[in-house]
Amino acid sequence: MNAMSTVSPVQPETSALERIQKLESEYLLQNYARYPLLLQRGKGCYVYDASGKRYLDFIAGIGVNALGHAHPRLVKTIRAQAGLMLHTSNLYYHEYQGPLAERLAKISGLQRTFFCNSGTEAMEGALKMIRSHGRKISPEKHEVISLHNSFHGRTFGSLSITGQEKYRRDFEPLLPGAKFVPANDVTALEQMFSERTAGIVIEWIQGEGGIFPMTTEYARKARELADRFDALLVFDEIQCGVGRVGKYFAYQLADPVVLPDIMVAAKPLACGIPLGVIVANERAAKAIGAGMHGSTFGGGPLACRVALDFLDILEGLLPHIDQAGAYFRGKLEALRPRFPFLKEVRGHGLMVGLDLSIPGKQIVLDAIEDGLLINCTHDTVLRFLPPYIVSEKEIDRAVRILQKTLKAAAKRGDAS
Ligand SMILES: Cc1ncc(COP(=O)(O)O)c(C=O)c1O
Repeated sequence: MNAMSTVSPVQPETSALERIQKLESEYLLQNYARYPLLLQRGKGCYVYDASGKRYLDFIAGIGVNALGHAHPRLVKTIRAQAGLMLHTSNLYYHEYQGPLAERLAKISGLQRTFFCNSGTEAMEGALKMIRSHGRKISPEKHEVISLHNSFHGRTFGSLSITGQEKYRRDFEPLLPGAKFVPANDVTALEQMFSERTAGIVIEWIQGEGGIFPMTTEYARKARELADRFDALLVFDEIQCGVGRVGKYFAYQLADPVVLPDIMVAAKPLACGIPLGVIVANERAAKAIGAGMHGSTFGGGPLACRVALDFLDILEGLLPHIDQAGAYFRGKLEALRPRFPFLKEVRGHGLMVGLDLSIPGKQIVLDAIEDGLLINCTHDTVLRFLPPYIVSEKEIDRAVRILQKTLKAAAKRGDAS
């Protein structure tokens, strides 16, 4: 045999990213459209890919990594708790649920907490509370009002009240009794309410819908109508809550506060350890009695202990979130006159959307290439959810990178 024939041609080396992509394409459900980035570690507001390249993280795991990455106090707590006990089940007590529930009551103005593991699980529980509340009054009272353009999660109940057809259509028929109204339209809201209404669910700032805030007038009307028709008012604070807007919860932006009967939160609460909560006033809490709801993993000692640490830190961070958010939005506003395809800057605190008149996808890809992680929601809204610890220096850097990608978009003629 000719020795030469056994020498295989030099193969280009497969990168770690390509190897993972191949495995995932063979073995994962093909539901995610990931960006071509293999993340390995993070520190503060930066993350690093498998080759060691650094990226400024302005999406923070879609609003989860509120204290950035590898926060020293959280790392210490997680290590300590891992050495003691990770899971107790809800058959027994552990040290952290009670204190965390007390803390949530103090900061939310509501009274009783149920712990679970994700946003949609919290929303499902809130929907059960709405249903059970309605049923106690009349079997007819089962309708749930929610808003066009809203997003409440991917499980059946949450999906049924999500006001975006694209998420719902493949799974119909969904829960009966879901009624949709346009956001911030007080007259439409009044017309939709009836004795059949058991509850209404509102995101104070729509996240997946493109960073659209509710008006205080609208929220107050929802409160008034819920009271008039003995329905439960639920605020979905999963994306906009737990410090994101510079208040503990986005409904606290209103002065005086519009209190819901139930608030659901999740994402940043344990900074990456899964934790969701339903927090309810006494009236709503009565809807759930012994044995009516539960969760195997919900409220484990690790998640609750981390959340307590996080809330300690958050207390001192709220003014910073407010200031950093104003600074960031100011910088984005300053870009607007230079790029005619920048329509509007929206949001509060560090929940910020930049609405474009062109698709945002290529801008997001270019930003990643240049070392900035952001994403795009609703096709044309660049979404920024940086960690709460972000500095002005990091904001300046993000804006510089963004400006470069916007210049490239203008040059490509994305707008035409
Ligand atoms: C407002 C809102 N509600 C509910 C959810 C669902 O949360 P999860 O993905 O944790 O189930 C999300 C997730 O993005 C959200 O933004």
